[in-house]
Amino acid sequence: MIDEIQRARDAALAVIGSSDDASLDRLSGELLGKKSALAAVKAGLGRLDPDARRTAGQALNEVMAEIAAAIDDRRAQAAAAALAARIAAEQLDLTEARPLQPRGHLHLVTQAWERLEDVFIGLGFTVAEGPEVETDWFNFEALNMGEGHPARGEFDTLFVGRDPSEQAGASGTLLRTHTSPVQIRAMLAQEPPIHIVAPGRVFRRDTPDATHMPVFHQIEGLVVDRGITMADLAGTIEAFTRAFFGEGFTSRLRPSYFPFTEPSAEFDIRRPDGSWLELGGCGMVHPDVLRAGGLDPEEWGGFAFGFGIDRMAVMRHAVADIRDMYVNDIRFIEQF
Ligand code: DAH
Repeated sequence: MIDEIQRARDAALAVIGSSDDASLDRLSGELLGKKSALAAVKAGLGRLDPDARRTAGQALNEVMAEIAAAIDDRRAQAAAAALAARIAAEQLDLTEARPLQPRGHLHLVTQAWERLEDVFIGLGFTVAEGPEVETDWFNFEALNMGEGHPARGEFDTLFVGRDPSEQAGASGTLLRTHTSPVQIRAMLAQEPPIHIVAPGRVFRRDTPDATHMPVFHQIEGLVVDRGITMADLAGTIEAFTRAFFGEGFTSRLRPSYFPFTEPSAEFDIRRPDGSWLELGGCGMVHPDVLRAGGLDPEEWGGFAFGFGIDRMAVMRHAVADIRDMYVNDIRFIEQF
């Protein structure tokens, strides 16, 4: 009988070892239930003498407990394996997020443009804009450069009119050669006092070289109010210089000529090492320009200034050739 119990035990453990989670419940009935081989052995115990019955009964109990434990173990194993499989299936490969991927940044000129806006906003200016395709009137005529004015020749203008006859006269269209036409648009759009800066893209028929591009950027400034003097202009340029370049920098105005300002000046920045840098043009808004903007020059006065944005980026980052900023060579761009 002991042998019979042992055989039933070995057979049961073999079946349990190779069964899956789903079949374990059924198996528990088959191996330990009323119709199991061990139940049959148990039914036969009564035929044994008392000593043999005790030994066989004890062995039977041990084997049944062993089989029940084996079923529990197998069930736990199957549950652990199922959990491991689910974790493996749901696992995210975090190395795919590549957190060290370079992120890119704004274009050098955009960076300079935005910093200039920030500084002027800090000085009390608001930002204005005008169209890149302008009329001859806004770009020249209203700025005191009527047809035949010699200063027009200094601008290598790109005309837009389809018919060559459209290119002449105040109604012709062109790509604006400077941001100064925004002065006129601002005066026509709002009542003084006016404090605006107008950054934007400008165009000139130029062959690209290390210091010139046919498309570049300027920022224009215009202040119109009662009682504006040259001291307001000089003070604003100085405040801008310190705010944008830093405390060690100062500015100066040098007499110059522009058709749209009278008097006119160029302004230079003095670096901490004592060297000078020419930055842009400025002056007191010409009475004819105020009139073109719909303002009475007896009542209102103003100053204006304008300078290049690309040059600010070139200086800031010591770019040797301005064209490098526009050819999209990643080896250049990545440096900033
Ligand atoms: N528009 C001029 C240019 O493109 C720059 C300039 C000079 C703007 C004097 C001004 C100014 O507002 O007052 O060369």
